[in-house]
Amino acid sequence: MKIAIINGPNLNLLGTRETSIYGAQTFDAFFESLKQKFPTVEFHYFQSNIEGELVDEIQRVGFSYDGLIINPAAYTHTSVAIGDAIAAIKTPVIEVHISNIFGREDFRKLSHVSAKSIGVISGLGLKGYALAVEYFQQD
Ligand code: DQA
Repeated sequence: MKIAIINGPNLNLLGTRETSIYGAQTFDAFFESLKQKFPTVEFHYFQSNIEGELVDEIQRVGFSYDGLIINPAAYTHTSVAIGDAIAAIKTPVIEVHISNIFGREDFRKLSHVSAKSIGVISGLGLKGYALAVEYFQQD
């Protein structure tokens, strides 16, 4: 099974960025533990701060992978292009947010991605990514 994980802007700073909201673990450290937890899954990880690069990567993995786990970060709330890219691909998508976007500022309650995804995991920390992998494995 091939699963792609795509993270959007500022998620490269996990571990130092607003740790009271996003926690103290780096994504690299978490990703190592994720690979150990799911040894049979072939993971591909991509992070970018640039909207168009995220669209390119969604298109690149979107016709050959078994699942896409995406945290578009701030672009969740602003990017019609990322929402359109997710609607355009064949790979099933789960949207993940580390924080609970429904319990924060109002502008974070709008997502251009949710309606095009199978489901949304929000507010469960980095564990949300692992839960999304479990869902794809059971599918
Ligand atoms: C986030 C929530 C977004 O509102 C925010 O812009 C992020 C991270 C999350 O994982 O909780 O950068 O997607």
